[in-house]
Amino acid sequence: MSIALVILAAGQGTRMNSDLPKVLHPLGGAPLFAHALATGASLEPERTILVTGHGAEAVAGAARAIDPDIEIVEQAEQLGTAHAVLQARPLLEGFEGDVVVLYGDTPFVRPETLQAMAEARATHDVVVLGFEAADPGRYGRLAMSGNTLDRIIEFKDATPEERRITFCNSGIKMASAATMLALLDEVGNDNAAGEYYLTDIVALARAKGLSATAVTCDEAETLGINTRPELAAAEAAFQARARLEALENGTTLLAPETVWFALGTHLGRDVVVEPNVVFGPGVTVETGARIRAFSHLEGAHVGAGAIVGPYARLRPGAEISNDAHIGNFVEIKNAEIGEGAKVNHLSYVGDASVGAATNIGAGTITCNYDGVMKHRTEIGAHAFIGSDTMLVAPVKVGDRAMTATGTVVTRDIPEGALAIGRAEMLVKPGLAQKLFDKLKAAKAARQKGK
Ligand code: UD1
Ligand code: MG
Repeated sequence: MSIALVILAAGQGTRMNSDLPKVLHPLGGAPLFAHALATGASLEPERTILVTGHGAEAVAGAARAIDPDIEIVEQAEQLGTAHAVLQARPLLEGFEGDVVVLYGDTPFVRPETLQAMAEARATHDVVVLGFEAADPGRYGRLAMSGNTLDRIIEFKDATPEERRITFCNSGIKMASAATMLALLDEVGNDNAAGEYYLTDIVALARAKGLSATAVTCDEAETLGINTRPELAAAEAAFQARARLEALENGTTLLAPETVWFALGTHLGRDVVVEPNVVFGPGVTVETGARIRAFSHLEGAHVGAGAIVGPYARLRPGAEISNDAHIGNFVEIKNAEIGEGAKVNHLSYVGDASVGAATNIGAGTITCNYDGVMKHRTEIGAHAFIGSDTMLVAPVKVGDRAMTATGTVVTRDIPEGALAIGRAEMLVKPGLAQKLFDKLKAAKAARQKGK
């Protein structure tokens, strides 16, 4: 069955009290709506449609950065959830598959739950995701007759008796595109809010003799974000879930509660993560690698058996090959570090490539930025870069070449050559003692004068 996802993200999020559209607030290092996008992606949709409204341009930009193929429609005025889905009509017309409506502010729905909805679609025309609410509050209520969903009653329109129902609407719905569009056309706005309710499609479907049912999920999955305290609570929930998943997938976390994850952090089997490590967006760590304490990684790939940290920083484009070592106070940006290479102490390697088994000495800097442009440094395999080498890019160092400590490299170094560039050292016998005596005498004279 081909799927079109429609993600609703037009709302302002007034209660966030923010200039930033609600769905752009970060959760797990990604904009809020990206979580619904990731869950929806598990259905392998043919089309993904995002409905924007408030902050449309910013939301569209963020969405295209995540998925260049995403289709975006704008809902200029927020007249209700049914009206929002209808904005996608031109894209859904003639689509021979199912439409799944997700909310951009509801990040925790699991792929398995969407799968269960897809299965229920085999026997029902309209499928709604519901949950038993501990406190049903203002949620829409699901009126069931056995396994059949009769209608959804919005809180504002519900009678006191209907408000006693605790089985609630998550908002997520699934139907064929043809059914969805036909039903949406009939939705009116004659209700307490004066809005076009997506929830009305259930009663309309039933009136036409179509079948509707609800799939149940855990309330935690349907948690929506409306306020900053809710966002903070959601971050804690996201982190707890990510830690548990990592542990279950075979990663060792020595102090799980101190490790910070992002949406899409991927840690392989038998990876060991020491305390106080932060994974920003886009990190993959391969099997058996060790991330030592107090390291910060984003946009980085760490190969099998590599060791990173303690106190290392991997920035976007850091490609650490198998068995390489990145040590304390080392920063790597947009650079490949070859297999078994070592950058162990106090170095900056940026816009560079370092060949296999090369050793980068303490305090080495790739001087990649001239104040206007960035330049590359290419270092071959089995090379030895002496401590405190400054590599003034663009520059190349050949295989098995060597630089002497303190060298400022301003020209290419051929394979197997040694580069040494530093002032010659002089030794003056007895001069230190003379200098000390002179300085002490000057200090004594100054104190006497006070
Ligand atoms: C909705 C459901 C309610 C359900 C609840 C679950 C309706 C009528 N009600 O209510 O049954 O229990 O969600 O959280 O659907 N949006 C748009 N354009 C609009 C209106 C909303 O894009 O014109 C988006 C919002 O940005 C949000 C989502 O749709 O992502 C839900 O809208 P919201 O206003 O939060 O609906 P609720 O009143 O919470
Ligand atoms: Mg809501």
